Amino acid sequence: MTVSRRDFVKTSVLGAVAAGVGRPAALSAATEQASPASSPKRPVIICAHNGRASIEAAYDFLKGGGDTLDAAIRVVKGPEDDPNDDSVGLGGLPNEDGVVELDACCMHGPTRRAGSVGAVRNIKNVSLVSKAVMEHTGHVMLVGEGAERFAVAVGFPRENLLTEHSRKIWLLWKEFHSDRDWWGPGLADPRWRPPAPESKPQSELWQDRIEQLRQRAADLGIEPEFQLAAVRRVLFPPTGTIHCSALNEKGEISGVTTTSGLAFKLPGRCGDSPIIGAGCYTDQDVGSAGATGSGEENIKVAGAHTIVENMRHGMSPQEAGMDALKRIVRNYNNDMDRLHFVSMTYYILRKDGAYAGVSLWQGAEGRPHRFVVHDGTARFEPAVGLLKGEAQEWPPFPRIPEELKKDSEYLK
Ligand code: GLY
Repeated sequence: MTVSRRDFVKTSVLGAVAAGVGRPAALSAATEQASPASSPKRPVIICAHNGRASIEAAYDFLKGGGDTLDAAIRVVKGPEDDPNDDSVGLGGLPNEDGVVELDACCMHGPTRRAGSVGAVRNIKNVSLVSKAVMEHTGHVMLVGEGAERFAVAVGFPRENLLTEHSRKIWLLWKEFHSDRDWWGPGLADPRWRPPAPESKPQSELWQDRIEQLRQRAADLGIEPEFQLAAVRRVLFPPTGTIHCSALNEKGEISGVTTTSGLAFKLPGRCGDSPIIGAGCYTDQDVGSAGATGSGEENIKVAGAHTIVENMRHGMSPQEAGMDALKRIVRNYNNDMDRLHFVSMTYYILRKDGAYAGVSLWQGAEGRPHRFVVHDGTARFEPAVGLLKGEAQEWPPFPRIPEELKKDSEYLK
């Protein structure tokens, strides 16, 4: 599937989205209705798929007069507290040293303030720490040890964020590289296997490697129903994250993004999530946007800020998001060999209640990327894809059997 270069140069003209670039734009009713000048008819919250379990209570809080940033943080705190969500907070997949480092930022529309923390260790609720930076300091961003010390000073408990589940996946990742280092079973171990003969076709070599990894996952004690998902995390280190934007009936709007960042990253790496303007951006006059996916790519297009500015200049939420995605594609000159390794989803909420979720890749057949909306009723909606297909299509990965999808959110 190709996309003409002209499409990406003309970033301000978005009518071409449907012309062979991903599937036709299925505009949601909310996206097309209101203009930015009109008021929202009711509160609206939009977030990544992993906010589904916590959005109801946050919506009730918002409807009852709660602050928009506090409501958004109530959504993302759910995954931060959940040891089974390995992309955020407690249980997040660690850096290459096996240490969990978290990033977050927030923007409070009504008071036009922002806070951010990057590469924070030992503190679970970094969304709240970013809010504390906003409220208790004259700074916007703290990182590393200084951010951790600040968090402890204002009352956050230190805790070990590495769960057994995440530690085992990290160990599997270490051992995956073990024909070139000393991790994994040594020569004397009965589980040691010689390297596969290079004469085999690449796809067969990968199938062997995937099976060996699955076997090691079993040896490490990873539950059978999670072994293939663990292997997938090793081969395709995830960039899972949660963003949430919340709007109340008065038209006040705020946003927050929080993550454990790219799995197995270099220590100290900050992705887009703590970068105001990339992982999250909120302007009380216009709206709010946030991102999940390949942080490095999003930083280079200042995704969330670009989207909000696009809306300021008249684009609909979906058009604004598609334009940011096209800038990512343009940065790689439309080179699909590279773009297959990029994933990006934007969550966009305009001040009048119009919203959109857009994704660089549409997702697997029958399983599009999804986001969660609550405007009185909570629901998943499919994100509109710019490009057909899935990110990360190499190496070929076996389909995970339906019966193993016990924890379906993980395996998506
Ligand atoms: N978007 C999350 C990250 O790249 O860290």
